[in-house]
Amino acid sequence: MLRLGVNIDHVATLRQARYRDDPKFWRAEPDPAEAALLCQEAGAHGITAHLREDRRHLQDFDLQRLKERIRIPLNLELANSAAMVEIAVRTQPEFVCLVPEHRTEVTTEGGLDVLGTEESLRGTIGRLNGSGIQVSLFIDPDPAQIEASARVGAQAVELHTGRYADLFNRKEDRNRELQRLVAGAQLAHQSGLTVNAGHGLTTGNVPVLHVVPHLHELNIGHTLIGRAVFIGLPAAISEMLSAMKGYAG
Ligand code: PXP
Repeated sequence: MLRLGVNIDHVATLRQARYRDDPKFWRAEPDPAEAALLCQEAGAHGITAHLREDRRHLQDFDLQRLKERIRIPLNLELANSAAMVEIAVRTQPEFVCLVPEHRTEVTTEGGLDVLGTEESLRGTIGRLNGSGIQVSLFIDPDPAQIEASARVGAQAVELHTGRYADLFNRKEDRNRELQRLVAGAQLAHQSGLTVNAGHGLTTGNVPVLHVVPHLHELNIGHTLIGRAVFIGLPAAISEMLSAMKGYAG
């Protein structure tokens, strides 16, 4: 069964738009932890949360609230820095997904350069695994990055589907990117890695993604919160679960 991890950063983005100076203010809303509970009730299999170094959306206290309140696994997205790794060790999410982070980007752009940072990643993964946390690396579907991910000891990769999503309306280009995802998933699986995917996924492009083998979990955020404005979060989750149904693996 293909699992749905819901990225709830976008709920915090909305709260911060009004309450950036005091996100703990007594009437600050919406609360990402409340949203996570709704996602759990609606059938989501996990919650993904990105604590950025600039704290532009989720705050440290959100992580504690999430960890205390949800029963489904928490996947914490982080930059590979000593400070972030220590926060993860304290928070004890089930998974950490290491992502590249640039202050000027609106959302994560491009995958992690595993090849260029092998030594540092090996240390980070060792530290996280040592405290019982499984590690995933957010990478482009590039064979060299996938092989490097296995070499540094990651348990999983999250294949970046942003390019596939951007090219979705240009069929030839999209199919070329889809083939990269298919080959990437095969290679990752053969290398012993769990294969997740995410970024830019919608109910429109997820059914076509079913041709990619070995997928374990999709991490999806923006479209779910966007749809929730019109139909509510539980209905948005149900729609996405329907789009994911029938995945053959
Ligand atoms: N996976 C990673 C590593 C991300 O950074 C994001 C962005 O929030 C997502 C998945 C979800 O992407 P989207 O919000 O486009 O669904």
